[in-house]
Amino acid sequence: MARRNIELIRQAGIDVDKLLDLLVRAAAAEFTTYYYYTILRMNAAGLEGEAIKEIVEDARIEDRNHFEALVIRIYELGGQLPNDIKEFSSIASCSDAKLPDNPTIENLLKVLLDAERCAVGVYTEILEYVQGKDHRTSDLALAILHEEIEHEAWFEELLTGKPSGHFRRRAPGESPYTSKFLKT
Ligand SMILES: [Fe+2]
Ligand SMILES: [Fe+2]
Repeated sequence: MARRNIELIRQAGIDVDKLLDLLVRAAAAEFTTYYYYTILRMNAAGLEGEAIKEIVEDARIEDRNHFEALVIRIYELGGQLPNDIKEFSSIASCSDAKLPDNPTIENLLKVLLDAERCAVGVYTEILEYVQGKDHRTSDLALAILHEEIEHEAWFEELLTGKPSGHFRRRAPGESPYTSKFLKT
């Protein structure tokens, strides 16, 4: 017997396989972003790098949190992660945030900004698909979207000097919106 929650969102018009595909691809993008941001943060070196290091770290940990929160919903909906990590990384909904050939701070920021812009699009799409039909995924996608919009604004501010309202998190990778979905 299908879980009542799955039955109800089907009745509301959700194609659960399509939704799971969107969620697994989003989780893959978060996981790969977490990996590549680790390399970007390491390369945020020197005086200029020090100015952005903590912000890269907030975005890195929060993107990992997004992965953790998505995985719970994927399994609740009867889905799973691919058993092969190479397959998983190849289906990510955003391209790899690779260290640029010339890793100046400005070039690092461009990579970071592009990655966050992609993420804003991903969660806007998921939210539009589930809104009013799958309340739990909707709440989760909205919470993640809040943080992605902040990440985008932070990196845009660092790149252009345009104020974004950024102020440091109380703890690194605090995830003020998605922390309620995390079990630990
Ligand atoms: Fe994220
Ligand atoms: Fe992000």
